[in-house]
Amino acid sequence: MTDTRHPDLADPDDRAVLDCWHPIGFLDGIGAHRTHTRLLGVDLTARRHRDGAIVVGAAGRSDPLPVAERYGCLWTSLGTPPAAPLSIPDADEPDRRLVCCGSVEVHASGLRVIENFLDIAHFPFVHTGILGAEPQTEVARYHTEIRRDVDEVWATECRFHQPQAAHSSHTGVEAQYVYRVASPFVTLLYKSCPNDPVRPDVIALFVQPTAPDRCRAHPVMFLIDDVSPQADLIQFQQRIFLQDRIILENQRPRLLPLDPRAEIPTRADSLSVAYRRWLKEKQVRYGAVHT
Ligand SMILES: [Fe+2]
Repeated sequence: MTDTRHPDLADPDDRAVLDCWHPIGFLDGIGAHRTHTRLLGVDLTARRHRDGAIVVGAAGRSDPLPVAERYGCLWTSLGTPPAAPLSIPDADEPDRRLVCCGSVEVHASGLRVIENFLDIAHFPFVHTGILGAEPQTEVARYHTEIRRDVDEVWATECRFHQPQAAHSSHTGVEAQYVYRVASPFVTLLYKSCPNDPVRPDVIALFVQPTAPDRCRAHPVMFLIDDVSPQADLIQFQQRIFLQDRIILENQRPRLLPLDPRAEIPTRADSLSVAYRRWLKEKQVRYGAVHT
């Protein structure tokens, strides 16, 4: 029997993707008028009703989808999601600034966008003079693990020399990073903060897969910075993300290969290797090369 489903739709067996919470836009863009977007090849509408509740509808379904308002974003799911989107305890600290950095369309698999976010080695070449600079290109050894108790991928003890690690940085520093992948299309990093000796800044990348080879990225920051103007913080992050987009849209294949032999890894790629292995274990298909 031939498969007549639209090629942008998720395979019904792709539970690791279908049962996730996915971001579908920033809350400040959802009003009384219907907003149109797309998730996993399905057309969605979202609007806020007069009682304050947001209702998300999906083409071809009569029942509304599950909804969560969290971290400046609207989240929904086409399957049976957990009780709430990921937990980011730091985000709820009262002096954190929520900075929603604007949504960016990327013509690449959302899995590629997440993997690029996890890659330290590209800093000096793609974000030259900001997050890295030649000749300091070597990635020091760091620790990667798949945390089975929470089913997440983490990398700790990452450090890298950065000319301008944040908008509020004025001198080069050795920035310290911890990376966390909370679900196939949701990642965040904890990064040493120029304004606090103990608590890190938190930078999240929430990715909305719209087609296997297309997505919308929603970067969100939770910063300890009560000085910088919001527009400057957003512009700093957007400048970095647009540098990444050029690289991402030129990668081939556009989908992410999960076969560990597909692209030759180096020691600096151990986080990427763990991410791909974890996706393969979860049998993620959407946005991945099927082998
Ligand atoms: Fe980058």
